[in-house]
Amino acid sequence: MVGTSVRLKDGRSAFVRRAVPGDAESITELVNIVGSERRWTLRERATWTLDQERATIAAADGTRSVFLVAEVDGRVAGILYLARGQWPKNEHVAELSMSCLPAARGVGLGTALLEAAVQWARSVGVRKLSLEVFSSNEPAVRLYRKLGFLEEGRLRREFEVEGKFVDGVWMARWLEADTSGND
Ligand SMILES: CC(C)(COP(=O)(O)OP(=O)(O)OC[C@H]1O[C@@H](n2cnc3c(N)ncnc32)[C@H](O)[C@@H]1OP(=O)(O)O)[C@@H](O)C(=O)NCCC(=O)NCCS
Repeated sequence: MVGTSVRLKDGRSAFVRRAVPGDAESITELVNIVGSERRWTLRERATWTLDQERATIAAADGTRSVFLVAEVDGRVAGILYLARGQWPKNEHVAELSMSCLPAARGVGLGTALLEAAVQWARSVGVRKLSLEVFSSNEPAVRLYRKLGFLEEGRLRREFEVEGKFVDGVWMARWLEADTSGND
């Protein structure tokens, strides 16, 4: 849930909250660390300036898009960005991307971020969450399956990752309507 602490499997706590412009440096550092691994994400380094990052965070005001961060030990250890379609015909769909620092993986941080994203999506009336993942990214595919995402289709040999052609797998989860009355 956004704005709450979650106990991780290794005993540490994670605090999931909306990003603020002051997180731009930490987010850029995280994007660079994950990008330098070269096998999980399309971007191999942050391509935006800090000002552009701040502007993106500020624009993600929780209506059409949201930028979540998960703090562990006072440091931004995970990020998730979610933006809904900009047209009447696709505004019920939101596309997401996410990453966690290597040292914070496998302990439930990705699950916490994704659950918070689902909660936000429902609260603003988004009905479908979608994403693209490399077919070689087993940890991510498993996380998405665990959270109810199903494969919708694939772009064959769309990416070359570590010298091998891999598919771009589109996955999605249809959300039931929010009947809790929360906004
Ligand atoms: C994908 C990613 C966000 C998952 O986050 P995470 O915090 O490690 O995930 P969790 O600890 O919440 O694990 C959730 C599930 O994912 C699967 N999983 C996690 N790590 C895994 C691994 N190394 N191998 C296989 N499955 C794994 C498991 O099914 C796990 O469920 P379980 O704990 O009940 O067994 C994280 O690995 C990451 O940031 N990777 C690099 C960036 C990236 O790939 N981003 C996504 C691009 S589409």
